[in-house]
Amino acid sequence: MMPTTVSIFEVGARDGLQNEVAVTTQAKLQLIADLAASGLTRIEAGSFVSPKWVPQMADSADIFTQMPRVKGVTYSALTPNLKGFELALASGADEVAIFGAASESFSQKNINCSIDESIERFIPLMQIAKQHSIPVRGYVSCVLGCPYEGHIEVNEVARVSEILYKMGCYEISLGDTIGVGTPVNARRMVEAVAKVVPVEKLALHFHDTYGQALANIFACLDMGIATFDASVAGLGGCPYAKGASGNLATEDLVYMLHGMGIETGIDLNKLATAGNNISQIIGRKSASKVANALA
Ligand code: HMG
Ligand code: MG
Repeated sequence: MMPTTVSIFEVGARDGLQNEVAVTTQAKLQLIADLAASGLTRIEAGSFVSPKWVPQMADSADIFTQMPRVKGVTYSALTPNLKGFELALASGADEVAIFGAASESFSQKNINCSIDESIERFIPLMQIAKQHSIPVRGYVSCVLGCPYEGHIEVNEVARVSEILYKMGCYEISLGDTIGVGTPVNARRMVEAVAKVVPVEKLALHFHDTYGQALANIFACLDMGIATFDASVAGLGGCPYAKGASGNLATEDLVYMLHGMGIETGIDLNKLATAGNNISQIIGRKSASKVANALA
């Protein structure tokens, strides 16, 4: 059955801006305020990773301490390890996300350790998050393919997802990091993961490199998943997945869902304006077809 309401997890300020030319803290604060004003209630606002690895996110503590909070909005941070978690906590993040991968090579390139080592590092983070009642989201990367290994077995995606879920992640976001997936494969992957993690605890995070993200989401919409990650203006990519483009543009997702009579709580025009403004600052056209059509 199709959902009547969908929850959108906005990753533009993190997954998007981590892989664009660096913008000022002020520009990020404006973007985050605009996103909240459009009706988005789940906003990933930054990431506490090594500034040597991802300099674009080096001002995340400033973002979290300076941004005006809108009631009802959850501001989330990406945290690879305990150090990142402690920085996020000190900056007032409402929730954090850990990130693992279904590909050994990608895990090494992205977080400099094996899949098993990454899970070991998450254990103390999960314990401290629990003590502070901070919800933790879990990402799994490369669920439909890897830039280094190519094909990824769905069983490996299911294995890592189950571990993160059992560790206490409240939701598992399945990432097609390089946007290579196609609808039938996406469904098969979700079917495999749904055997070990309740389907309503899954989210889909599709980069749109090959233009398949919307089709993939449509293919999975009747499977019981009602949470999708998206990036305003299609911002971003992944610094450790060469050639990857941004996530599906939030505007395009909202347009499709509203067209199907599915509620999101988002004002599409306000969202498109937010995306157009940040695209102008970055100096490129919005990657959202819908935003360009509306303009
Ligand atoms: P490492 O070099 O192995 O870490 O990096 P280390 O523990 O050996 O520490 C080395 C240095 O980093 C030390 O500083 C630490 O203090 C510092 P030094 O003594 O050299 O001055 N350090 C930190 N600094 C700030 N924040 C921290 C932190 N941790 C250590 N949290 C590490 C390991 C994980 C830190 C590194 O590999 C890293 O930062 N990786 C992040 C990569 C990243 O951000 N990738 C993009 C996000 S993931 C993504 O986009 C995918 C997703 O969207 C889903 C999808 O699409 O699939 C989520
Ligand atoms: Mg991503």
